Amino acid sequence: MNRQTNLARTLLLQTLSDGQFHSGELLGEQLGLSRAAVSKHMKALGELGLDIFSVTGKGYKLAKPLSLLDHTTIAAQLSEDVQPLLNVLNVIDSTNQYVKDRMAHLQNGFVCIAEAQTQGRGRHGRTWISPYGASLYLSMYWSFAGGYQSISGLSLVMGIAIAKALTQYQVTDVKLKWPNDVYIDHKKIAGVLIEVEGQLGTSCDCVIGIGLNVDLPKSKMDIDQPWTDLTQATGSPVDRNRLAATLINSLVEHIKIFESSGLAPFVEQWQPLDVYHNKHIKLLMGKTEIEGICKGIDANGAILLETNGMTKAFHGGEISVRPI
Ligand code: BTN
Repeated sequence: MNRQTNLARTLLLQTLSDGQFHSGELLGEQLGLSRAAVSKHMKALGELGLDIFSVTGKGYKLAKPLSLLDHTTIAAQLSEDVQPLLNVLNVIDSTNQYVKDRMAHLQNGFVCIAEAQTQGRGRHGRTWISPYGASLYLSMYWSFAGGYQSISGLSLVMGIAIAKALTQYQVTDVKLKWPNDVYIDHKKIAGVLIEVEGQLGTSCDCVIGIGLNVDLPKSKMDIDQPWTDLTQATGSPVDRNRLAATLINSLVEHIKIFESSGLAPFVEQWQPLDVYHNKHIKLLMGKTEIEGICKGIDANGAILLETNGMTKAFHGGEISVRPI
């Protein structure tokens, strides 16, 4: 999308964000666009997942008011010792890709956050559906000294950091599914995708990507597992700027502890959050399935499975956990 188109759509959305009707003619006049051009932009915005109504004689209206992400508002709520470099974007292919493309020039704690992603990606090569203004799509850069082994367990710590940020929202029953899916009421609310570049023994450059559902458009979602969002879970509208700041503060706080002390301080914290603790589960590893009782994690972050009285540790990015 070129800069002019991006600017026109941003300005249209700023006007529509009040949830009121706005005539196509007036919108066009304000932006120096024809009515046909306004209509084309509205169609494109609809394709980004926004619910926009068009009523003859009244104009265009968003199904509900939209509070847009705002750099100044988020930055003002970051802890003093956090203050990461923050980039608030409008529409992007993937915030993880954005960070990856700029890795060589970034400092630890750099965050980019976007209103929508056109090619959001999830774990196991899945797509992360990313409608406009409906969630948080956030990626943070961090480089760990010491190679791949130094980040063993990082994804679990990120799950814990998200779960703790959510407890500030009066939601009960926030749980984690190994390695890092966040659940509320047995439905997925957030996921983490860590992409890594580095070599054995040298520094390990990480893009920590987080998708956190805030207020997904119920009709447009085609997700192959039970899901929820923070608006449903709290029963009230969520201020995404405050949520973004709460999440960033929590991520940085946890990463700093992990950087200095590793996974050890978090192993105890995992168990009460584990959605399947002492439950019968199966691990899917390609075509192999192993059943057993979930016994938490070991010191390296591997999942512990008890089968026939024996507890074994399983580790690897390709493992999926399912209930039985
Ligand atoms: C999962 O599959 O559970 C992980 C989902 C991670 C999605 C986030 S959204 C922000 C960042 N950018 C991406 O393209 N993916 C991650």
